[in-house]
Amino acid sequence: MHLELIGLGKIFVDAAQGTKIPAISSIDLQIEQGEFVSIVGPSGCGKSTLLRIVSGLEKSFEGKVLLDGQEVLRPSNDIGLVFQQYALFPWRTMCENIEFGLEIMGMVKEERRTIAEKYINLFGMQGFEDRYPCQLSGGMQQRVAIARTLIMNPKLVLMDEPFGSLDSQTRNDMQEFLMDLRQKRNDTILFVTHNVDESVFLSDRIVVLSKRPARILRIFELTAPHPRDRTSKIANDIRREVIGILRQERNSHSPIRN
Ligand SMILES: Nc1ncnc2c1ncn2[C@@H]1O[C@H](COP(=O)(O)OP(=O)(O)O)[C@@H](O)[C@H]1O
Ligand SMILES: [Mg+2]
Repeated sequence: MHLELIGLGKIFVDAAQGTKIPAISSIDLQIEQGEFVSIVGPSGCGKSTLLRIVSGLEKSFEGKVLLDGQEVLRPSNDIGLVFQQYALFPWRTMCENIEFGLEIMGMVKEERRTIAEKYINLFGMQGFEDRYPCQLSGGMQQRVAIARTLIMNPKLVLMDEPFGSLDSQTRNDMQEFLMDLRQKRNDTILFVTHNVDESVFLSDRIVVLSKRPARILRIFELTAPHPRDRTSKIANDIRREVIGILRQERNSHSPIRN
């Protein structure tokens, strides 16, 4: 897997008011197989818009997204998505939610059940297979959403603030769970968060974005092995530096760039 973002730009047009809202400006980035790259930036800067472009959901934008050299023009099974809202089907059990993509592909019931069970075991969710989403904790619901995405074996996984609605202890547990999973599967993940601590705990690289329209301010490389110590000197140093850049950006009064 090789992902290339070339000269990405996006301007929203508010048809009712006739105004233009520049959301993304000249973003270039390359991501290699197995990398965990976080995107952090001020609220409303264009992070979700960037992920939508990469996913193929956004139809009009500047630049190109290349996945293994092929232009991404529409959503496909090659690119998996996990959002903050779990978006599980409330009328389907855990197992039926996880199997969903395989069912759409036309896989027969027995075969998809066998694969789903493998994921339920891998995710430590045995015993909850027949429960409905409303009978599961927030952390478990998000694990189901991740399993449902990974069961399709996407080349690239996009996550948009996936742990944003969880309490801080569950959030930490989920971060550890995700790191554990990554050791086993070597997924390539592009992860949006506004939580700097989370990005320092998880990432191989942290891409820091500016205010809207989002452009890349800095890229940090993190080489500390996993599991990481959240309170180590190196973690604190990087956290301090990223927070400093974001603070400076927040306090700058540059006019909105077009
Ligand atoms: N469909 C849309 N139409 C008009 N403006 C939009 C649309 N989607 C997002 N925006 C605007 O683009 C900016 C970036 O949004 P978004 O990518 O959701 O930010 P973030 O995820 O970083 O919080 C925001 O100012 C938002 O209001
Ligand atoms: Mg967002």
